[in-house]
Amino acid sequence: MPSLSINPPARLLMGPGPINADPRVLRAMAAQLVGQYDPAMTGYMTETQQLYRTVFGTSNEHTLLVDGTARAGIEAALVSLIEPGDRVLVPIFGRFGHLLREIAERAGAEVHVREVEWGQVFTPAAIEQAIRETRPKLLAIVHGDTSTTMMQPLDELGEICARHDVLFYTDVTASLGGNTVETDAWGLDAVTAGLQKCLAGPSGSAPSTFSPRAAAVINARRSIEAGLREPGDPVSQNPIRSNYFDLSMLFDYWGPKRLNHHTEATTMLYGARECARLLVDEGLPQAVDRHRRHGAAMLAGVEALGLDVFGDLRHKMNNVVAVVIPDGVNGDSVRGALLNDFGIEIGTSFGPLRGLVWRIGTMGYNARQDTVLTTLAALEAVLRRAGASVVAGSGVGAAYDFYADTDSADDARQETP
Ligand SMILES: Cc1ncc(COP(=O)(O)O)c(C=O)c1O
Repeated sequence: MPSLSINPPARLLMGPGPINADPRVLRAMAAQLVGQYDPAMTGYMTETQQLYRTVFGTSNEHTLLVDGTARAGIEAALVSLIEPGDRVLVPIFGRFGHLLREIAERAGAEVHVREVEWGQVFTPAAIEQAIRETRPKLLAIVHGDTSTTMMQPLDELGEICARHDVLFYTDVTASLGGNTVETDAWGLDAVTAGLQKCLAGPSGSAPSTFSPRAAAVINARRSIEAGLREPGDPVSQNPIRSNYFDLSMLFDYWGPKRLNHHTEATTMLYGARECARLLVDEGLPQAVDRHRRHGAAMLAGVEALGLDVFGDLRHKMNNVVAVVIPDGVNGDSVRGALLNDFGIEIGTSFGPLRGLVWRIGTMGYNARQDTVLTTLAALEAVLRRAGASVVAGSGVGAAYDFYADTDSADDARQETP
């Protein structure tokens, strides 16, 4: 029986997520519980829905939290939108595209995939071509794939989907808050996220939003559970294949009926609400700019250290960079030294990139100048010890210069009447 209470070591989490939670989120999560139907609780639920409408850029009524990590949001969206036998198109450009495919297959879909090499993204023309070839009910695509750091442009895909009468789902777990996401303007029908990246919270809640078109598809299979059911209530002959992730039931729970489903994870809701408040207080465009700025400073720093960067940089997410491990350097030893000697965590990688790149994040609470400079200084020291030839001070120097240059540009902008 462990005798000590939890006391995790102090770490600076500069990987691809999770990152250190914003202290405001941690404080919100320390608040006392209230009952499920306490007006305070239902009030928090309603506020959280409104906050996430702003974060997602949508007026969708059906904007809610799915309890569980980001994967729970993906699973709820796919299992609720897909009926066994439906055709689903999944363009894959990294690990999380494979996850969408696997979840869609488990939901009984006839899945068609298209793949590009890791480090690349799809053109709208390639996706339209695949839609013509496969005639899917649903396009399911990741927005920012953390495994490669690439971000698929989505702004032209909504119009293509509408023209071909295809539902449009995307996973914005890694991108939301640090990169522009415009649910309504881009014609998205279903969008799911997580808290542990640019939203500055812990994993465990999946903010999600569904267009009226998606809600109509989902509600066509709506059932009311026996035990709650009243005369005249619907019983689907073809129910959604999961109870926990049945979005028609979650819509009833989060809607005016407040029809009982699971017991809302109160502490996670407090955290998710605070994550959204942080972004709304800062302003979404300002939050995206902050991620762009600190991501660019980190990129300038690693390049100045003489390190190569993986992937097509025109499509890199603002909040994470994949750094090629130099020849002769043991990637795991460098990560180990950063953690043990400096308390800094950076990320490893999967699949075709395993052992080839580190992933360094600048996101959420950790998208700051001090974290960028500290990480670059530590990386330089550890690399030198590992035998890599790096010019002393080059990484920190380049990032410092970047900040100085952009500060003066910002000042000049502010002075312009
Ligand atoms: C793009 C993307 N989707 C989904 C996930 C899965 O998230 P979770 O581990 O919270 O279920 C991640 C996690 O890194 C991710 O980056």
